[in-house]
Amino acid sequence: MFWPETLVTLAVLAALLAYDFVARRAPRWPRLPLLFLELYLLGLLVTPLIANILRAQGWEKWLKVGLTTLLAWAVIRLVFYVGVEWPALKRLGRPLPKITRDVVLLVCFSASAFVILRVQGDVNLAGLLTTSAVLTLVIGLAAQATLGNFFAGLTVQMERPFTIGDWIRCGDLEGEVHGITWKSTCLRTREDYLIYIPNTHIATSSFSNFTRPERALMAAMRIGLAYDAPPNKVRRIILDVVREHPKVKSSPPPEVRLVEFGDFAITYEIRFCHEHFGIEPRIKAEINNQLWYALRREGVRIPFPIRDVQIAHIERRTAEKQREQLRRDAEAVLAGVPLFAALPEGARSELARRLRIEQFGQGEVVVHAGEAGDSLYVIREGVCEVLRDAAGQAVAQLKAGDFFGEMTLLTGDPRSATVRAVSDTVLLAVDKEALAPILQANPALSEKLADVAAQRRIQLAAQQGQPPDPETSSRRLIGRIKSFFGLK
Ligand code: CMP
Repeated sequence: MFWPETLVTLAVLAALLAYDFVARRAPRWPRLPLLFLELYLLGLLVTPLIANILRAQGWEKWLKVGLTTLLAWAVIRLVFYVGVEWPALKRLGRPLPKITRDVVLLVCFSASAFVILRVQGDVNLAGLLTTSAVLTLVIGLAAQATLGNFFAGLTVQMERPFTIGDWIRCGDLEGEVHGITWKSTCLRTREDYLIYIPNTHIATSSFSNFTRPERALMAAMRIGLAYDAPPNKVRRIILDVVREHPKVKSSPPPEVRLVEFGDFAITYEIRFCHEHFGIEPRIKAEINNQLWYALRREGVRIPFPIRDVQIAHIERRTAEKQREQLRRDAEAVLAGVPLFAALPEGARSELARRLRIEQFGQGEVVVHAGEAGDSLYVIREGVCEVLRDAAGQAVAQLKAGDFFGEMTLLTGDPRSATVRAVSDTVLLAVDKEALAPILQANPALSEKLADVAAQRRIQLAAQQGQPPDPETSSRRLIGRIKSFFGLK
């Protein structure tokens, strides 16, 4: 009579066992929790064989209770797998800590067993639980530490200050949360070994979670660079290197800050975001490595604390050489400026000897409208813009070879406009004392300067919506220049 059902049961059990066998060896096959189902089917197969014995002993009821419990547990286990564990495995959700998984399953298993015993076995466990208080006390005392860890683990899980995959530090211990069990929380360190921290320790200590609230972490590192390297150039080189690193996030963008003028170097702080706390030291090392090459290519020195002992006359000679180089360099620049190109070579050379080199970073103001001044500037490198005032509209843009500041230098009037560096800029500054003998010997230069100044004043007045001032005419300006410089 029971042969057909028995055969089907047997076939299903064999199929499940075969699947289990293959899944253990093939990592791509999901490892389904089939144990309870297999035990249930085994129970179904065995029942007819022992039916007579059970009947004789009056144990039929308990077999039924046992089989129903196994079936209920098989269903619970499969539903839990499909609803919770499988999505976590497929990275649809976060992996569930072992302690949470165990507690949920234990509660479900106990509840189902409780109900089945009550309904099918006619047993009420509630009474048993209340009468076993002494036993509970004994077990509780014996397993005090374990229970402490268990409840601490549950508390931590309820609060969820971290979860698997987060990077935390507890005291001196630091690592990625690898698992949370009944007894401990397991961290995987950067060096790739495991640390087990008792849950009670975690629950009672303060700890940091580096992966919250954002997974992206801000890393900071410092570098000391030579004083003679312009900060904006340094910033550009460092940012180029940092941005190129594949693990550095582009948003928020990396930053470079000048933090200190130190004894031997200017210290810069580099800040960038990434999502790989475990390999942060490696990212920093790779960036440092790249920086060495990039800085060397651009001629920026990484100084180290050395004590230079130099003999005074060698130092003097070096300084003289540098001055001479600077003069030749400035003379070449002046020769390229139409205004000074017409000067005799001797006068240009004299002017080059007496001027100063000044550097301005991007955005810095060189002269403010309304202030006094006695320098004219020739742009050697970079771009500057002329503004009506610091907050005003741009009137003109000046590039390498152009000059500005002539109006105040030549007449003693306050600066007529603000001039700001649009990019990093190198300027040649000429003072009144340096220019006076040149103007004296070359009257044509005063005329050319007066022409340019007059034109600019007209343009500036037009920008400001004012009529041109009669004082702006070139002739009047020449007169003023002559009297200001005491020329005949
Ligand atoms: P100064 O008045 O000494 O200081 C501001 C400078 O801005 C001024 O000299 C000129 O050299 C320059 N400047 C003013 N107006 C113009 C303009 N329209 N075009 C170019 N440069 C200008």
